[in-house]
Amino acid sequence: MGITVRPLQDDLPFGARISGVNWETLADEAVRQQIRDTFEDRGVIVFEDVEQTGKMQVAISKVIGPMKDHPVKTVERVNREDDEMMGVISIRTGPNAQILEIDGRQLVTWQPWHFDHAYNNELNRAGLLRSEKIAPKDGLTAFADGIQLYRDMDPAILEQLEGKIGIYTLDLRHSQQKYGLPKSLKVIRPSKAGDKIDEMAAIFPRSLHPAIFTRPQGDKVYHLCAYGARGFVGMSEEEGIALGQEACDEMERVVKPYFHKWKPTDMVLWDNWRVLHKACGCDPADDRIVHRTTIKGDYGLGGWETPPTHLEPADAMTM
Ligand SMILES: [Fe+2]
Repeated sequence: MGITVRPLQDDLPFGARISGVNWETLADEAVRQQIRDTFEDRGVIVFEDVEQTGKMQVAISKVIGPMKDHPVKTVERVNREDDEMMGVISIRTGPNAQILEIDGRQLVTWQPWHFDHAYNNELNRAGLLRSEKIAPKDGLTAFADGIQLYRDMDPAILEQLEGKIGIYTLDLRHSQQKYGLPKSLKVIRPSKAGDKIDEMAAIFPRSLHPAIFTRPQGDKVYHLCAYGARGFVGMSEEEGIALGQEACDEMERVVKPYFHKWKPTDMVLWDNWRVLHKACGCDPADDRIVHRTTIKGDYGLGGWETPPTHLEPADAMTM
């Protein structure tokens, strides 16, 4: 008795599908190690035919590492009262969700390519997603492998990014995003959560993360996120934005994404230090709810532009 591991998609150099995960197999240390090895090797895992409970979602997440709370206190939690559900957040459509228009279509829960917690000094190790309510159409989640991107992007652009440290802010409003958005994007209805985000972002320091880094395994990773980005250390904002836009255009040219179409029986895990992800959005008239765990870890390369002196971001967000 064990689990079955298969490639995610034959034409992709990353990702795996795992079936056979249940309470019995999860209790086996050999199986747990096999899941960890697959995660390190492949970056994305789709768990198929898995029990759809928050308890199982947390149990699978803990194979990779301990849970942590989400760094932003105002983000909706699935259950704040239950310690076991610490850091499990809810991403949903509804009256508070932002509505965007891209290429003439209105979308909710759309997000550009990014890694999570760029606005923090510490990046979560991974997230495990479970669809609580699947949109009847669209609502796909896309994943892009930073190792594939580094391998395939124009070396001249990578050379410019080598050694560059990206600057990020918590102000994730698309209206403030400097590069990397579809040209046709319009904000039709801003997120309610965005009401005070500019004040919040103003009172704690900007975070820093390298645009390219080398994994302990030796692979180089392209790890640039346009979401919340404000250029690069040591460059003018104008030059930084131009370089960021050039990098995003090249990324879009070479990316070999995996688009996950949600089934009621699966969960998806990704390595937040290696893989970029994107939410493709769904029709504002449809409902979509996704629960995501926050798995603790620190890749040790992030930092702050100026040391936080008075408030941690997480505390600031309660104001
Ligand atoms: Fe995300």
